[in-house]
Amino acid sequence: MNIAIVGTGNVGRALATSFSRAGHRVVVTSRDPQHAGDLAATVAGATTAPSPRAAAEAADLVVLAIPFAGVADVARDLRSVVTGKPVVDVTNRMSFGANGPEMDTSTSNAEELATLLPEARVVKAFNTLFASNQTDPTVGGVRLDGFVAGDDADAKAAVLELVSSIGLNPVDVGPLVRARQLESLAFLNIALQVANNGGWQSGWKLVAAPVTVPAAA
Ligand SMILES: NC(=O)c1ccc[n+]([C@@H]2O[C@H](COP(=O)([O-])OP(=O)(O)OC[C@H]3O[C@@H](n4cnc5c(N)ncnc54)[C@H](OP(=O)(O)O)[C@@H]3O)[C@@H](O)[C@H]2O)c1
Repeated sequence: MNIAIVGTGNVGRALATSFSRAGHRVVVTSRDPQHAGDLAATVAGATTAPSPRAAAEAADLVVLAIPFAGVADVARDLRSVVTGKPVVDVTNRMSFGANGPEMDTSTSNAEELATLLPEARVVKAFNTLFASNQTDPTVGGVRLDGFVAGDDADAKAAVLELVSSIGLNPVDVGPLVRARQLESLAFLNIALQVANNGGWQSGWKLVAAPVTVPAAA
């Protein structure tokens, strides 16, 4: 698969590494070309593009690995070149208030992204995994789950296959509205780590999930 990754931080790097290792062709882009160049130099076969739009034009699938605060501008740049394509939202929704981490669960980042990209097929995935586990999805001998939510069956199937290809156990959790719960799952994991000064290795595994997804590799 030809995959465009917007963002070269923790998640951009982790997913570029996993995707490339699984045999996908990866193009990365950043606001700072130096960041994209540095990342591409360390990931086998990865290339760079000067903008999200340029990266997405030749891609089969686009991953937005940036803070949600930057998504509206990137979506404006991308909109005309992602018609019919899966656009994967990995963002999380929490903020830090006086009482620690907090979040608004009345909607989700993924649903908001879908309104910004109505011609694309927005899919929620990878957000429940810390970046370290996106690179290495087996923790304590357990293959972590890669939860996927989306409204378009074909786009969701493509992302479930992608999830499986990097060594995660793919779990189809239903329509895009389920992204609210996926963003909450990530919130809970992050809040636990923050509260306990953790090592950021914990990950979600749903035991005996119904099998509605392609078999894990
Ligand atoms: N870290 C995790 O373990 C983890 C796990 C799951 C999901 N997430 C989610 O994944 C997303 C990325 O997290 P991260 O940890 O990779 O963050 P990060 O290390 O801070 O990297 C953020 C990346 O986004 C770019 N960026 C920042 N602000 C931007 C803007 N306004 N417009 C366009 N690009 C912008 C940065 O680009 P420049 O190079 O141009 O500065 C950088 O490449 C976040 O939404 C986060 O909630 C994170």
